[in-house]
Amino acid sequence: MLSQETNELLTRVGPGTPCGELLRRYWHPVAVAAELTAEKPKKRIKIMGEDMVLFRDGQGRYGLVGEHCCHRAASLYYGTIEEDGIRCSYHGWKFDLSGKCLEQPFEPKESMFKDKIRQPAYPVEKLAGLLFAYLGPKPAPLLPRWDLLLREDGTRKIVVLPVHQCNWLQIMENSVDPAHTYYLHAHQFKARGFPVGGYYYRPIGRLEFEEIRGPVWAGIVKKRTYGEGGDTEAEVGHPLIFPNMLYAPQGPDLVIHWRVPIDDTHTSIFWLRFKPSEGGRKVEQPEDPPAEYLPSLKTPEGEYGMTSFPGQDMMAWETQGLIFDRAKENLGASDRGITMYRRLLQEQIAVVQSGGEPLGLIRDPKKNEIIRFAISRGQARKEYLEGRPGIDVSRSTGS
Ligand code: FES
Ligand SMILES: [Fe+2]
Repeated sequence: MLSQETNELLTRVGPGTPCGELLRRYWHPVAVAAELTAEKPKKRIKIMGEDMVLFRDGQGRYGLVGEHCCHRAASLYYGTIEEDGIRCSYHGWKFDLSGKCLEQPFEPKESMFKDKIRQPAYPVEKLAGLLFAYLGPKPAPLLPRWDLLLREDGTRKIVVLPVHQCNWLQIMENSVDPAHTYYLHAHQFKARGFPVGGYYYRPIGRLEFEEIRGPVWAGIVKKRTYGEGGDTEAEVGHPLIFPNMLYAPQGPDLVIHWRVPIDDTHTSIFWLRFKPSEGGRKVEQPEDPPAEYLPSLKTPEGEYGMTSFPGQDMMAWETQGLIFDRAKENLGASDRGITMYRRLLQEQIAVVQSGGEPLGLIRDPKKNEIIRFAISRGQARKEYLEGRPGIDVSRSTGS
């Protein structure tokens, strides 16, 4: 249970809010790069309560500017793309990628007024077909090079989920709530006659969480055994990457999930799905992986589709309310991953408030060549859970 005050602290993401300021210290995916084409080089987006225009200038470089022109607030979405920036369609002020005002056609020639003008603007970088933006103070940390964005031994696919109508924290808390998989997923499938299989059909025997404060990434790793008595199978890995990512096996694939707040009550979800090749052979990749946009997860009657993982999860997250009032919850022992994550969030909000740098920002390029994760199934995990040398998740670092 959380006080109203703490609930507000952890959920509000607009500019100037404590959690919004923490989240602004990290890079977030904001769009699929292929959405911006020569014919349609602009996209209106909202992230953490800020209305913005994402665009590609005439040189093919990406920019993200506040939607409303700093002159008289007309929308820059209707602006004209030029070689070196975007020109407002109202009175023609032109801004470059950094928000610098390049021209004010109707000001006196000798005027220095434009030098005092700045349109809000944020850096954008492209990686694995996704456009990532950084909305925090400069200098920006490096855009993390997670292994699935770069590995050459398989194929990549981007998946964009429908916008979720709920606060971002509900979705993230689910990532440290492995107990949900049995009833929300396995039981729902079983009840509908789907073939039984997969780890989530086995009740969890033992459940542990480990906080990681590595040199490259921070987060919480889940450690669990399945089955009862001696019939156990262990799983270690599957980390929540602080602050708003999940790295998860999905069948034979590996998937990174990003949960990006649009505002306090809407959240974007992007997946990068990686399918390892047979025998680890190298696979030629297109520069931009194909992108799939999942259709609505609801039935034509407007009910949640309980026949897929994303539909089941969406039901649980959205029905908690737009912003779940955690003063009304009753946490049990199986919810301790959630408590651990909230503590970490609160602690890191305080770090930012006192002028410090939060966990998991990368500034050394040597640590960012490729960030590999250790997730494996079977004996290695069992050894880990039993405290014997096996897989060491804390070694999941830049190579
Ligand atoms: S409102 Fe944009 S130039 Fe005037
Ligand atoms: Fe789930």
